Amino acid sequence: MRKPIIAANWKMNKTVKKAVAFVDDLKKQLSNYTGVEVVVCPPFTALNKVSEVLKESNIIVGAQNMYPEPAGAVTGEISPLMLLDLGCDYVIIGHSERRTLFNETDETVNKKLKCAFTYRLRPILCVGEYLEQRDAGKAEEVVYNQLIKGLADIGKDDIVRMVIAYEPIWAIGTGRTATPEDANAMHKFIRHILSEIYDQKVAAKVRIQYGGSVRPDNIDDLMNQSDIDGALVGGASLDVRSLVRIVKFKREIA
Ligand code: PGA
Repeated sequence: MRKPIIAANWKMNKTVKKAVAFVDDLKKQLSNYTGVEVVVCPPFTALNKVSEVLKESNIIVGAQNMYPEPAGAVTGEISPLMLLDLGCDYVIIGHSERRTLFNETDETVNKKLKCAFTYRLRPILCVGEYLEQRDAGKAEEVVYNQLIKGLADIGKDDIVRMVIAYEPIWAIGTGRTATPEDANAMHKFIRHILSEIYDQKVAAKVRIQYGGSVRPDNIDDLMNQSDIDGALVGGASLDVRSLVRIVKFKREIA
């Protein structure tokens, strides 16, 4: 049984003061709510204070990126050791905004994943296609390549600790969600690739989130699909009420 996981990706939003007020409220609203793993990924600047507030709670802290070295002459970057120091368990790797705006390749992503595992951080690996690629019937091929290259030399013990987020790029921040059926079809395809790289038992354990305009009004339908194990939420995670409703999704399937 895969425990559902909802992760809030705040991107470049919220000052420390606002982040603290948010998680303080969130912690109260989700106290005793244990059926879903909840991860909050604030900007680097708020990690320290957010971790402090969430120390005695079920809510887990994640970062949005990291540099794949423990330390060194890399101006402006943040290392996995620093993230551990700030109370992070998770780290988002290969978000499409990093791939597009900062030219992150699958090779970079692979390096970051390996380094994250070395320091026992749990990566959330993002994959997904552009609209032109989907329209050209290439969505599966794109995701296949991202997974094969991104997961190169990652072992079974590590893959089961990580999360994969399928985020069609055309659905991010656009208000346009993939239909639950289309999203589920890609999730099944991803699980199939995992069963080829590893085996079926391993593939059945890996949690696959959907991301891209997830909101309180579409989360239930998404979570009622067989292979959607959670969501990576951007815009709708910036408001406590909206995030709480997403975490408290209603699911009819077992
Ligand atoms: P969105 O972003 O929910 O605002 O579409 C999702 C993401 O980029 O992770």
